[in-house]
Amino acid sequence: MFPAVVIIVACCTTVILFLYKYTTYTYKYWKSKSVTFATPVPLFGNIKDHVTLKMTQGECLKNIYNDFPREKFVGMYQLQTPTLLLRDPETIRLFLVKSFAHFTDRGFSYDGHREPLTKHLVNLEGDTWKILRQKLTPTFSSGKIKSMLGLLQGCGVQLIEYMDATIESGKTEFEIRDLTAKFTTDVIGTCAFGLECNSLKDSQSEFRRMGCAVLNSSASLALAKMVRVFFPKLFKALKLRTFPAEVQQFFMGIVKQTIDFRNTNRVRRNDFIQLLLEIKNQNHNQENAIKSIELTEELIAAQVFVFFLAGFETSSTTLSFCLHEMAVNQDIQNRVYDEINETANMYGLPFSYEAISSMNYLEQCLKETMRKYPPVQALARVCTKQFRVPGTDLDLDVGTAVLIPVYAIHHDPQYYPEPDTFNPDRFAKDGDGGGGDNGRPSGVFLPFGDGPRICIGMRFAMLEMKLALAQFLHRYLVTLSDKSCTRIEFEPASFLSCPKGGIWLNVNKRKA
Ligand code: HEM
Repeated sequence: MFPAVVIIVACCTTVILFLYKYTTYTYKYWKSKSVTFATPVPLFGNIKDHVTLKMTQGECLKNIYNDFPREKFVGMYQLQTPTLLLRDPETIRLFLVKSFAHFTDRGFSYDGHREPLTKHLVNLEGDTWKILRQKLTPTFSSGKIKSMLGLLQGCGVQLIEYMDATIESGKTEFEIRDLTAKFTTDVIGTCAFGLECNSLKDSQSEFRRMGCAVLNSSASLALAKMVRVFFPKLFKALKLRTFPAEVQQFFMGIVKQTIDFRNTNRVRRNDFIQLLLEIKNQNHNQENAIKSIELTEELIAAQVFVFFLAGFETSSTTLSFCLHEMAVNQDIQNRVYDEINETANMYGLPFSYEAISSMNYLEQCLKETMRKYPPVQALARVCTKQFRVPGTDLDLDVGTAVLIPVYAIHHDPQYYPEPDTFNPDRFAKDGDGGGGDNGRPSGVFLPFGDGPRICIGMRFAMLEMKLALAQFLHRYLVTLSDKSCTRIEFEPASFLSCPKGGIWLNVNKRKA
């Protein structure tokens, strides 16, 4: 008979060996493909610092990116998942644009039966995505976006009324991110859902509360999201949810009520829900409609929901980072103000579409903000059709994950000298006829992604943000407050770039 201690040691060793084997069984993948790779650590692969919430995904990928300056791409592991990290601009364009047919999906898993709101453009794959994207693209044409200008201006006016009243009451220090989040909640509320939320006035706004529930960056939700990404089967087996059930009920309910109300009362409004209803009715009437997908109420709800999900925090976080930089760089703020003032004198108020389009320096500031603080720090693709990487003998298998480290590229001094400096002149109109701004190659400025899956709301977002900044900076001067931090740190648990501790600034009315 073996003594008990020997049995315990043997059992423990077996368990440890089993765990080690289980957590490292894929780690020979890149070696077997003769691809240079970052050395993984058991269980975590190469994303330990992100999984343990020490840094954001973008910051973690930046470290790997910087470790391999000579490579066009590098193998890495997200936990056990072999992933190809792209480094060089030409390769990035190849994957996102020229060879898109091989990388049509993001590989985000979702359970459309249990959570119908997740059947949206960001998650959908293959032909279903393609047909829906085709259907939705006209919704974002410049004509359609122009027709929403009035709604956007209205939200801007509410912001100004709120600011004026608050400043008059003696308060001048604001947590700017909360302010911009309320503003963009109202924008998406009115432009996507047809609702007048006024979450600036009504701090208990249900819509705002649901927004917080969706984008809550608590550690437990971050963990659930990681399980969804890396262990989709476990996510389904445990019946975990992408967001709380009440969120699902709330958004489905709003869309259903709005559709019923508009159909019964024959009400029309220039917003996204109206445009989607029109597409639905057109498809009903046309025999030769873009086939295969019926735009059901459920599918419409999922799309307006994603406009909210993808559109509200990306824009609000960009606005708040931009105002932070204005406060840090008073000379830049003065230049922006001069441009806004001249435009107001030339075109009159409120700012028209043409007036907004003419403000080039303001646009440069927004671009530089998204360069320095890209809201989406990495782009994801998955190989959907076997692919031989040109000039190599690497065959990528179907299902291989691909990441584009946007944050790292935006901070690479070879494309952006002194990357920590906020310098909008990097985006001054290209004088030398180079492939991108100021001779930079294409593929190194990716705040909205690229290729057929580029952000569908890009033009809408630029208009919304430019108008908001023009209205705001025309009336107010932003400066650093006692609570401001001059160097922003990101919240590691947040999927989108989010400033730790918020952004505190003083806001004062400019003298007339
Ligand atoms: C500053 C604002 C915004 C930023 C930085 C941003 C960024 C992005 C990025 C990086 C992607 C992924 C692109 C890729 O994989 O190549 C994306 C996709 C998407 N965005 Fe945006 N976005 C913004 C605003 C908006 C707005 C306002 C809307 C809608 C009203 C929107 C709707 C979407 C949708 C539906 C997708 C998925 C597109 C597809 O897969 O076909 N975004 N966005």
